[in-house]
Amino acid sequence: MPEEFPLLNRRQLLLTGASAGAVLALPVQAAPRNRRMGEAGALPMPAPGNTLPPPLPVHDANKTRMERGWLFHEGDIGDPILDSHNATYLSVKAGNAQGAAAIDHDDSDWARIRLPHDWASAQPFEESANVAQGYRRRGIGWYRRRFALDPADRGKRLELHFDGIATNATIWLNGSTVAHNWSGYNSIYIDLTPFARFGEELNTIAIRVDANAMEGWWYEGAGLYRHAWLVRRAPVSIATDGVHCDPRRGAGRWQVPVAVTLNSVAREAATVTVEAQLLAPDGRLLTRAETPATVTPLDEAVATLMLDAGTPVLWSVEAPTLHTVVTRVLVDGTAVDERRTPIGFRTIRFDAGEGFFLNDRPVKLKGVCLHQDHAGVGTAIPDSLHRWRLERLKAIGCNAIRCSHNAPSTEFLDLCDAMGFLVMDENRQFNPAPDYMAQLRWLVRRDRNHPSIILWSVFNEEPMQGTEAGVEMVRRMAHEVKALDDSRPVTAAMNGAFFEPNSVSSVVDVTGFNYYQNDYDQFHRLFPDRAMTSSEDTSAYETRGAFHSDPKAHVISSYDDEAASWGDTHRNTWRKIMERRFVAGGFVWTGFDYHGEPTPYAWPTISSFFGVMDLCGFPKTATDIHAAHWVDDRPVVAIAPHWTWGGKEGQPIRVFVTSNAETVTLRVNGRDLEPQQVDRIMGNEWTVPYAPGRVEAIAMRGGRVVATAAQETAGPPVALRLTPARNVMAGDGEDAQAITIDAVDARGRHVPTANLPTRFSVEGAEIIGVGNGDPNSHEPEKGNARSLFNGLAQIIVRADRGGGRVSLRAEAEGLSPARLIITRRPVAEVAQWPESFGGQALREWRRSPASATKPGPDAAPPDGDNNSWAFARAGNGAKPDPAGNWRAWRTTVTPWKRIAAEGGMLRFREITGRAELYADGRLLATKDSTTAGPLEARLPAGSGARTILLVVEGAGITGPVTLTVE
Ligand code: GAL
Repeated sequence: MPEEFPLLNRRQLLLTGASAGAVLALPVQAAPRNRRMGEAGALPMPAPGNTLPPPLPVHDANKTRMERGWLFHEGDIGDPILDSHNATYLSVKAGNAQGAAAIDHDDSDWARIRLPHDWASAQPFEESANVAQGYRRRGIGWYRRRFALDPADRGKRLELHFDGIATNATIWLNGSTVAHNWSGYNSIYIDLTPFARFGEELNTIAIRVDANAMEGWWYEGAGLYRHAWLVRRAPVSIATDGVHCDPRRGAGRWQVPVAVTLNSVAREAATVTVEAQLLAPDGRLLTRAETPATVTPLDEAVATLMLDAGTPVLWSVEAPTLHTVVTRVLVDGTAVDERRTPIGFRTIRFDAGEGFFLNDRPVKLKGVCLHQDHAGVGTAIPDSLHRWRLERLKAIGCNAIRCSHNAPSTEFLDLCDAMGFLVMDENRQFNPAPDYMAQLRWLVRRDRNHPSIILWSVFNEEPMQGTEAGVEMVRRMAHEVKALDDSRPVTAAMNGAFFEPNSVSSVVDVTGFNYYQNDYDQFHRLFPDRAMTSSEDTSAYETRGAFHSDPKAHVISSYDDEAASWGDTHRNTWRKIMERRFVAGGFVWTGFDYHGEPTPYAWPTISSFFGVMDLCGFPKTATDIHAAHWVDDRPVVAIAPHWTWGGKEGQPIRVFVTSNAETVTLRVNGRDLEPQQVDRIMGNEWTVPYAPGRVEAIAMRGGRVVATAAQETAGPPVALRLTPARNVMAGDGEDAQAITIDAVDARGRHVPTANLPTRFSVEGAEIIGVGNGDPNSHEPEKGNARSLFNGLAQIIVRADRGGGRVSLRAEAEGLSPARLIITRRPVAEVAQWPESFGGQALREWRRSPASATKPGPDAAPPDGDNNSWAFARAGNGAKPDPAGNWRAWRTTVTPWKRIAAEGGMLRFREITGRAELYADGRLLATKDSTTAGPLEARLPAGSGARTILLVVEGAGITGPVTLTVE
């Protein structure tokens, strides 16, 4: 603890004051209408910021988001039952997927949605649903999207990227299966180049998601819950995840070896120049290198370069300085592809005796485990909400995150790089079989450039961790990791088996301890050469804002008294970690509450009690406890509980103060109690008979007051208040933020006991979720109503595009309503691939052999004959044939529901030759001209498969054919 606290910069000011009663010794800018943090009765959240969050890095400008224009169907859609030989024959051909995967499946009544999308977060809570998943049904869902490609993109390498689909996904593109993906946590990269259709002919994606499959014992969400992209690159370009920058410190100087994997869809071998530039944090070019590389068609090649970085500014937790490596592919001096990779210069080392070192300085890992889940939105967390969650953690001195128990999104890691977190990146499935090794390889290839990552974790708590097979499995997985990145240690989060003869601990670089704190010393004694960290600990229980446990009501007091039998309180746990240098640090289970795995109570409890903060990110007492433990660069003090205990007058109340100062005094209604030496780990306690008024904690250092915090008795609620995290939002179509709603008394004080229902409306933004942090609440997390829980609720809004205002209004029975205006800044929109909904197209036809005589309206190939009539596509007319100029073109179409009910228009954009058009043997229209031209006819209503026959004298169908509602 430094003697003098340095002056804080503006950003730190915004990040400070984590919770009720926390305060700075320095003046804080008061937000309009909000009391200052630490002031009695203040809202237990920081004052709103006035700046937009900095943009996330653009790694690849050739990637465009494809997140609007999706159609969604909840529930499964079975394939049609095929009973004929011919239908079966046709159904298994490329492009002929059946059912909801079929190109022309009727999705006209599906819901229009945008990504990220977690359909489970809109499900009701049901006692009969799975407890681990938070009593929500997940089930099966289908997504479809059409999109157009410019003919100018022919010849490019085209890919689709899905950054996360929960859970088992099958993906079809234009009627062909292009991916089976059996994990909800890895990206899916699809090379769509060979399947692509250009111009007017739309491409169709269909995705069946089976979210009944589970990979976790926590809430996992359902559907396309991360970003999705369309990628268009030069024929010879850098492969996806194909850049590996591996900064290494040599003798006093840094070098960055860069390996660039190229691939090619060109028809000829190509020799290109690969260039790498190292840019300083301010964008200045520091150094560059280039090398030629030759790629043969449809192959890969790896180019290696070396950048001499000299003595760059290092990356650290306090100053996460990022440099950028720009990698380019040049053809004849022109750049045809480019990637931008943020990198950080830092050394990491786990020492068996001394713990973790960053840049040769010891750094204790003050970490939390996180699931990717937030109130209201489930797993579909906007990037800006991820940032806000990380800011909440940074504010309490947290410096490390364990992504439990799966890979996070790229954007999450970008934020950790930029904000200075140390990350334990974890693999999901413990299995060295090829499918799962591919997932592990994907994880390392995607993530190995992030300076934030300091550990690769191959598993969490595997019962085979003390067996010969377990050891062999880990050996193989660690070997695979090292082949891709040998700069970081491999760990495994073990819950036991540390002393087994066959312990996984013997084949990892760092032994991860989940709980088992009483074994730390024995392990260190027996294996003094094995570096170790707590990979998971604590599992303590708190209900935010509650100060009495009520087992019947499933409420747990926030005095940090209760924990799972395998864990311990926040304070006891941290004591054991911080007292031992050889323990690199710890990861509290968990930073935030999460849906699912309700422990220790089950139904009607639907979410966890473990969080340092609740499901909304509202601070619990644990937040203040960790701030006192972890914040070293400024004074903190906080006081609990609140001081609104009507009816308890005269009764004793435990007053709990957490601080990192030297001494602390409690002032109760103006009377100072005996000062206490601060117990930074365990906190300080007084028992005070309750009398309405004010309790204040005064923290001192060196005889000087360095921080104060107070609680004041609030009167009855008279008005609502809305407080954003930021007074500004970006009109980029993506920016989201959490807005706090609370009730205040006649003097503007936060009322911590208010539990009243509220409802709200918003203009200029969309409400994407609501919450209040109550693990027992079954109120829906979508919609425009939510009850306050112990004084607080949260609305998550996503701003509309463009400049303007976001305006919110909240009301509650008998209270003055609240209004809030947020400025929506006109900034560049996040580019989205255009939406295309399209209609029904008749692409696939059978075409009779040419004949000199006109075929009749019943012309058809012999049953089961897939050879005599050609398979022809609309738009590809027939060539002249000496046998004659007459042909029949035949197809079947099942009109979409509305067309079946009302009839529709059949439109041939261009027919070359004279023609007669029949539907089910009935003449619909004729075309008398021999020159190319359109033909239209009304298709009468009628359900089921309809036979369309065009009899033509000439080249036939030389343009697209559509069937649309009139
Ligand atoms: C651990 C496990 C976590 C979570 C936690 C609850 O054993 O790794 O995923 O279940 O227990 O205390």
